Amino acid sequence: KVYNDYFYDEPVFDLHDGGYVPLEKVDMPDQPLNIPAALQPNKVDGNDVYYTITAQAGETQILPGVKTKTWGYNASLLGQTIVLKQGVHYHVHLVNQLPEVTTFHWHGLNVTGPIVDGGPHAPVYPGGSRDIDFTLDQPAQTDWIHPHPCPNTARQVWNGLAAAVVVTDDEEAKLPFPRNYGVDDIPIILQDRSYHDNQLDYKKDYDVDGTLGKYALVNGTINGVFNVTTQRVRLRMLNGSDRREWRLHFDDNHEFTQIASDGGTLPEPVRFTKLMLTCAERAEVIVDFGDKKPGDVVALMSDDMPIMKFKIGKYAPDDTKLPEHLTTIDAPEVTPGLPVTRTVMSGMDDQVRLDGKLFDMQRIDRRQKIGDTVLWDVVNTNEMDGGMIHPFHMHGCQFLVISRNGKAPYPNEHGWKDTVGVNAGETVRIAVQFTKFGVYMYHCHILEHEDTGMMAQIEAYDPDHEHKYHLLSMDEM
Ligand code: C2O
Ligand code: CU
Ligand code: CU
Repeated sequence: KVYNDYFYDEPVFDLHDGGYVPLEKVDMPDQPLNIPAALQPNKVDGNDVYYTITAQAGETQILPGVKTKTWGYNASLLGQTIVLKQGVHYHVHLVNQLPEVTTFHWHGLNVTGPIVDGGPHAPVYPGGSRDIDFTLDQPAQTDWIHPHPCPNTARQVWNGLAAAVVVTDDEEAKLPFPRNYGVDDIPIILQDRSYHDNQLDYKKDYDVDGTLGKYALVNGTINGVFNVTTQRVRLRMLNGSDRREWRLHFDDNHEFTQIASDGGTLPEPVRFTKLMLTCAERAEVIVDFGDKKPGDVVALMSDDMPIMKFKIGKYAPDDTKLPEHLTTIDAPEVTPGLPVTRTVMSGMDDQVRLDGKLFDMQRIDRRQKIGDTVLWDVVNTNEMDGGMIHPFHMHGCQFLVISRNGKAPYPNEHGWKDTVGVNAGETVRIAVQFTKFGVYMYHCHILEHEDTGMMAQIEAYDPDHEHKYHLLSMDEM
């Protein structure tokens, strides 16, 4: 079966919101798509691997003429791709060379909060550094790293901070997926920006309901072209936008197959011609260009706007077929006798609230015992017409989507996720289990909503090891 549906609620899709900025075509020539380099470790010592990640300011040639002042991780814009392997113990030296405080958040990594996971309680001050370490114990997936300082996440991401994190493992390595990084396996980081005399101006473009830009960028490139040299290409799509949802399709309606969602490989491949990603969601897809010949060009579109092109070159024939079954999701059983946790995203503009409240760094909003599997009903109370999608994200876990308004989740929601788009008027039921004690954020991933305070924190606790947390206040950020 091939799905031809974006799976979203048309009445609430973002065109219906007054602040929507449609994408515009940029009048400039095509350029090679930026493929971020893979970050090299400083040192490998048996099972211990050492990295340095530096948040830095620089300049990037984005538009013709003057370069744009941008921020990035080990790069002038976005960042080098961090490749991690299950089972390895990582030691990461985080360096802040920016003129303001930032944090280094591992979106999707199952590492402890509130410090290692780099939420707002883990500031790295200008000129300063912080050392963290963790053993990676989760399956292959595409995650990302981005800043999370309260309340400046949206602006710092807008300035350029975001990098792909590729997790590998032995099980995924056996599947017939392309995995030659930069050749047939590439990140597709989707963002939108506007420029003023070639410079970013977050204040000027700011929208309390989420800042949108006029131009589409993929990996920081406008009108990017990727030269295809293999029949099958794996795209690790990541919505790294502050607010924009991407409705992706090819200009010739070419089919593609999703093999992984946020938390890793899907149980079964899902074939599409259309795919929507809300903020922070990831989808790994394989595109088989076997029906194309050298010289053909296929454009990836969002709505009616081309956002990048694939230029088909010479490739060796590849008749690999994906198996019907990719992996088994070991869904934990819901712990009997526990009530359903209900969490409510409400409002728009500066009225957005999570459970009726604004974020307070020193308030623990909920507790859940580690090892328990609890159903959460995530509610978006916005009106069906005039409301908006809130992408709900949790730190410290990957969850399973159980239902949408009591109905089956979308066909590509049968794997692990850490971010789920909740349509206006909808209740999405998820099953949540924490395995590591700590304090974790959960929030709307429209970054301006998060910064306004549509965020809360949960303590995942171990009854045998009660823990006291020193929670910073906003003034210490
Ligand atoms: Cu991607 Cu709390 O964030
Ligand atoms: Cu996160
Ligand atoms: Cu929101």
